Amino acid sequence: MTDIIFVASCNVDLISYVDKMPVIGETLMGKEFKIGFGGKGANKAIACSRLGSNCSVISKLGDDIFGKNYLENLKKNNINTEKVFITNKAATGVAPICVDKNGDNSIIVILGANLLLSPEDIETCEESIKNSRILVTNLEIPIETVIKSLEIAKKHKITTILNFAPASVDQLNEKLFINTDYLILNEIEIEQLSKLEIKSNNDVKMASFSILENHHIKLGLIVTLGEKGVFFVNAKDKSCFHVPCQKVKVVDTSGAGDAFVGAFVHYLNQTDSIKLVIEKASAYAGLTVQSHGTQSSYPTIAEINEKLKL
Ligand code: RIB
Ligand code: NA
Repeated sequence: MTDIIFVASCNVDLISYVDKMPVIGETLMGKEFKIGFGGKGANKAIACSRLGSNCSVISKLGDDIFGKNYLENLKKNNINTEKVFITNKAATGVAPICVDKNGDNSIIVILGANLLLSPEDIETCEESIKNSRILVTNLEIPIETVIKSLEIAKKHKITTILNFAPASVDQLNEKLFINTDYLILNEIEIEQLSKLEIKSNNDVKMASFSILENHHIKLGLIVTLGEKGVFFVNAKDKSCFHVPCQKVKVVDTSGAGDAFVGAFVHYLNQTDSIKLVIEKASAYAGLTVQSHGTQSSYPTIAEINEKLKL
């Protein structure tokens, strides 16, 4: 029995640090290269587990060296891996990432084995889902698999979180939302889902209301706005608030959105105050942008406490 279950994508991140992003036809000298563990799904689980939650992951890895290392990585981070499937039909997902000198990133994802995580696989995990308190998923796996996970979770009255990342509106399906309690998206994702351009805080509000009008989200919508903070709308009474974020020195923003979601579920499992949950999750994400990499930048609760003592 675990508290939080992630139906998750796993990628090995291949990160190049550059002064500026290359343009078409350009050969550019990078400054540094790092390999790390990533994937929008597993990143959230790692953050949540490092904060002290009891987590398990449902995902699919390739039968290759990246897959083997990845499984070890999950175990090392105290994550229950009983439901991690291994396939010899595709390679473990990889993500070549470019990070520029401002800490901004662009990411290519080659999903490989993640795309073979099927609704049938999820059906075999029903017992584990039933025994959890919160299910978290995102869109780097087949959409039918996301739908099936949310459906099973709601059948057992489990709280559900869908991170609409990376935005995928080509195969939009209303079934994605009817079993979603909290929908979390970033600025790009809210633009794509609402089909409204975001230029100001008011645009974020308008786009959020439009999403809540058009889709059946049960409890709330959360928009992460990077350095501009986080915006929340209650799906029932449409009340909303904005949480600003602390100014920090940004080194690398990759994986910060996932760190936010992982911390969000960790705190959601501990308190009913959604405002407090968002404030704490946002502070956690703020810590991760101050160092390189995705999972490699997620502090453990012990590390955070240690820093606070200084
Ligand atoms: O959100 C960051 C993640 O996106 C990276 O870890 C990469 O693997 C891609 O999935
Ligand atoms: Na980081």
